[in-house]
Amino acid sequence: MRTACVILAAGQGKRMKSPLPKVLHRVCGMPMLQSVIDTARRLDPEHLIIVAGKHIDLFRKEIPDPDIQFVLQKAPRGTGDALKSALPALKGFTGVVVVLNGDAPLISPATIRKFLRMHQREKADISALSFAATDPAGYGRMVRESGGRFVAIIEEKDADRDQRALREVNSGVYAMNIKALALLDNISLNRRKREYYLTDIIGLAMMRGLSVHAFLIGHEDEFMGVNTRDELLRASAAMRQAIVRRLISKGVDIIDPASVFIHPRASVGKGTVIYPNVFIEGDTYVGRGVIIYPHVRICNSTVGDHAVLKDSTVVEGARIRTGASIGPFAHVRPGSEIGEYAKIGNFVELKKALIGNGAKASHLSYLGDTKIGRDVNIGAGTITCNYDGKNKHRTVIEDMVFIGSDTQLVAPVRVGKGAYIGAGSTITKNVPAGSLAVSRTEQRTIANWAAKRKARKK
Ligand code: UD1
Ligand code: CA
Repeated sequence: MRTACVILAAGQGKRMKSPLPKVLHRVCGMPMLQSVIDTARRLDPEHLIIVAGKHIDLFRKEIPDPDIQFVLQKAPRGTGDALKSALPALKGFTGVVVVLNGDAPLISPATIRKFLRMHQREKADISALSFAATDPAGYGRMVRESGGRFVAIIEEKDADRDQRALREVNSGVYAMNIKALALLDNISLNRRKREYYLTDIIGLAMMRGLSVHAFLIGHEDEFMGVNTRDELLRASAAMRQAIVRRLISKGVDIIDPASVFIHPRASVGKGTVIYPNVFIEGDTYVGRGVIIYPHVRICNSTVGDHAVLKDSTVVEGARIRTGASIGPFAHVRPGSEIGEYAKIGNFVELKKALIGNGAKASHLSYLGDTKIGRDVNIGAGTITCNYDGKNKHRTVIEDMVFIGSDTQLVAPVRVGKGAYIGAGSTITKNVPAGSLAVSRTEQRTIANWAAKRKARKK
């Protein structure tokens, strides 16, 4: 089936009481609109169209994606008018137009696919996806004849008492054969709200003898539309639970699901253990058999299989390879890459640090703008002095170097393969491979000094 997706997102979202357009509010760290786009993409549509309003430039900036066509709805004159604004972008398209609301971020691709199969099986011209709401307030009600035939969608404001009592409501997801969209021209202005309701297309289609269906499928949590702050919170909670449930079913061990936040785009491999209060944000990939201890935050990073992230560690924009161990209390900043089975210990900060396989920096270090080779040992308290007050410089430490504790490496500087640096050194010049460099004043020891001091005091 040839499909095109149109996401309606031009509404003002007044009920959010926010300067930000409603669909850019975040649910689980991702703009709602982005969630809907990700879902739409899974349907593999020929066109992916977003109807935007006065915030169109902000949308383009927040969602920089060359495959998306943004179309402008000049004024927010209702969902019917919004879909009409997309028609020029659909010129020449033949097939089914799937309409989604930009403010319903929880709908799963599987449910929409099922809906489209039903639309096809029934040879429908227009189908609406409905669900049974525990509390139908705010949604359009699905009106059926006594025989069950679906005849209209009535918005709450226009519904009579009997209609208000109906629990079957409109999700805002529709499948419409492109030809049926000609009816958009015939929708008349709803006088109460001064809007053109897309839902009125149902009655118009019925009158013309088109095949119109409503399919009651899916779970109500999936269809929640976000109109208020309170609904935003509820949608976040529902999405968080859905993400956690999906991961648990795939074999991830989440010890306290209620305290873990995982971004919708993040992926976590089988056998990974996630302790309480862990945040996995952005485009993050966590491999298999990883252990993530409490209070860890990982953002836009890749974590290889069997790595261990110990308590209170922050990892941002970094890559951690197989079997590496990080933390507790480590800060891995953007541009860092940690090699296989390397160890980054307590109170170590890394920035643009490339750490070789099997290298160790176990305690209290700042390693920035540096390339560190394999099996290097970085002693406690080592600092790369990368900043001269104006520019940043690089430190290169080749394979198998041993850096004694409390060393300062004043960049730019290079330590050659297998060299040793004595503890307490300030290294300002390159150290050739295989040599020992020490830079500290030699120790003076004064025998019996303590006793002499006492005697002086008397
Ligand atoms: C709409 C449906 C309602 C359904 C509910 C599901 C209509 C008339 N009502 O109501 O039957 O139960 O969704 O959540 O369609 N939009 C535009 N341009 C506009 C107005 C809205 O693009 O001029 C967009 C909004 O950004 C939003 C979507 O369309 O993403 C739905 O609009 P909204 O005002 O939230 O409609 P509801 O009152 O929730
Ligand atoms: Ca809505």
